[in-house]
Amino acid sequence: MTRSLHRILVAGAAGFIGSNFVRHLRRTRPEVEITVLDKLTYAGNLANLADVEGQPGYRFVRGDICDDELVNELASQTDAIVNFAAETHVDRSLMDPFAFLETDVRGTAVLCEAARKHEHEVFLLISTDEVYGDVPEGRSAEDDAFRPRSPYSASKAGGEHVARAYAESFGLPLLVTRGSNNYGPYQYPEKLIPVLITNAIDGLPLPLYNDGSAVRDYLYVEDHCRAIDQVLHEAPLGSVYNIGTGSETTGLQVAEAVLEIMGKPRSLIEFVADRPGHDYRYALDVSRITELGWEPQVTFAEGLERTVRWYQEHHEWWRPLKSGEYWEYYKRNYRPLAGR
Ligand code: NAD
Ligand code: TYD
Repeated sequence: MTRSLHRILVAGAAGFIGSNFVRHLRRTRPEVEITVLDKLTYAGNLANLADVEGQPGYRFVRGDICDDELVNELASQTDAIVNFAAETHVDRSLMDPFAFLETDVRGTAVLCEAARKHEHEVFLLISTDEVYGDVPEGRSAEDDAFRPRSPYSASKAGGEHVARAYAESFGLPLLVTRGSNNYGPYQYPEKLIPVLITNAIDGLPLPLYNDGSAVRDYLYVEDHCRAIDQVLHEAPLGSVYNIGTGSETTGLQVAEAVLEIMGKPRSLIEFVADRPGHDYRYALDVSRITELGWEPQVTFAEGLERTVRWYQEHHEWWRPLKSGEYWEYYKRNYRPLAGR
């Protein structure tokens, strides 16, 4: 089954994954008209979309997904919504939970309402493996219960529940993807991998919470974008897909790999106080997306090399981000490990 969509509203595409997705879509489906709606929070950056700006069939609108008037106007001009817009960083959600509830729950509801009103063909919600909570054993399948443990994951779970309610109650043509931890070019340097790389470039300590043993499934962003494209165009309406590689990597293994690629000493690793409510393991059952014909193409070793190279070659992109408010946040967030 393939569905052809002509005018897509992509919310939150000035961020990391959304901007990579827009670039992907321009390459693979140049005939699709794209409207980007983004508030340009601290995590949104027009530089992420500089290479598509000015192209025919592309336009950028600065605005908030909670602004129902604006969202309705844009929904009346499009046939589908893909929503990346969210507050996304767990550590920041511990400092300001309400910003997360506002965008990730209420903003998602505003988008659902507009998609319903304007009879859109598809509403694709980009969700996360974090809705399942900590998974000490086994793998999370799409029908497993949600057990979110941070304000971020609770807000994402809330957004999903609202979207599901719109699908059940009003027939919203819903699709949901739950991706694992993404990495690659244009990731704001507060998430683990870009923190490690940019700190290593500057010879700064590489902070790992507690003992660095928390496990994630690191997914190269282009692989994620291909999966999202495939779900958007091929998945039966109403379905949910986990997206991940099925691999398990600790924070310590990531830091060691970064240092190895860059030829920097292991002594740069610094164990710091743990994140409250830290989820120590996420692991996805990815059989459903595999059955749809998707599989990751970039190994972690290859993706990490590419990512290190990208940050080494794009100081002009990340250096301006690591200033002012960034260091205020950094100082608030990182604390010495007790007993040291
Ligand atoms: P990001 O923080 O890099 O980008 C988020 C974007 O949303 C920014 O451009 C920001 O300006 C915009 N935004 C925030 N609030 C908004 C609002 N109220 N109205 C309009 N725009 C707003 O995030 P990301 O890492 O690219 O993640 C994108 C999506 O994918 C999120 O929904 C996230 O939950 C999900 N996700 C991320 C990962 C990951 O590892 N990064 C994994 C799985 C799922
Ligand atoms: P992060 O990139 O914040 O993603 P997640 O949303 O999955 O928590 O963190 C990935 C993992 O790395 C997680 O176990 C927390 C850990 N981590 C550190 O050890 N040090 C850091 O500075 C950061 C940002 C994360």
